[in-house]
Amino acid sequence: MILPIRAFGDPVLKKVAKDIEKGHPGLSELIADMYETMYEASGVGLAAPQVGKSIRLFIVDASPFAEDEELEQEERDFLKTFKRVFINPYIVEEDGEPWPFEEGCLSIPGIREEVKRQETIVLQWQDEKFKEHEEEFSGFAARVIQHEHDHLDGKLFIDKLPVLRRTMLKGKLRDISQGKTDAKYKMRFTPLK
Ligand code: NI
Repeated sequence: MILPIRAFGDPVLKKVAKDIEKGHPGLSELIADMYETMYEASGVGLAAPQVGKSIRLFIVDASPFAEDEELEQEERDFLKTFKRVFINPYIVEEDGEPWPFEEGCLSIPGIREEVKRQETIVLQWQDEKFKEHEEEFSGFAARVIQHEHDHLDGKLFIDKLPVLRRTMLKGKLRDISQGKTDAKYKMRFTPLK
């Protein structure tokens, strides 16, 4: 089932999401719905708060990045199969030189801005079977995780922009919250006053 994606302005996007436990009601259905929703919107990542659930869960499928011919073959091969579910994820280490990339977000349609993030992370998380994992990620895989992980802490990529840039986007952001967007996927709006 395709779920409406919460637009900028929805208070759920500002909440710190809560850990979940094995047996969380409706979890496998929610994960399936989130994949359907993300693919419909042509996204590479989707966090549970974006569909109104304030729980520590996000999904990724970064295979579209594997088409990027500017990337090293090794990274493209990794991204091709980088489709995973992350439950209770926590970034425990972040390292390397911050590098810029123009990011977007399904909750903020029509806005893309350059965001700097560190190159490498170590992430701890659980999979759908609540098995523990710890792994190092870098490059685009790290970036997608950092972006989605921020959603679980109630943060959006625009929060990382310089104050002046953020101020310039204010009107556009208010418009989005009021439903003035040409996003081609289903959304739910909470207008900012
Ligand atoms: Ni996002």
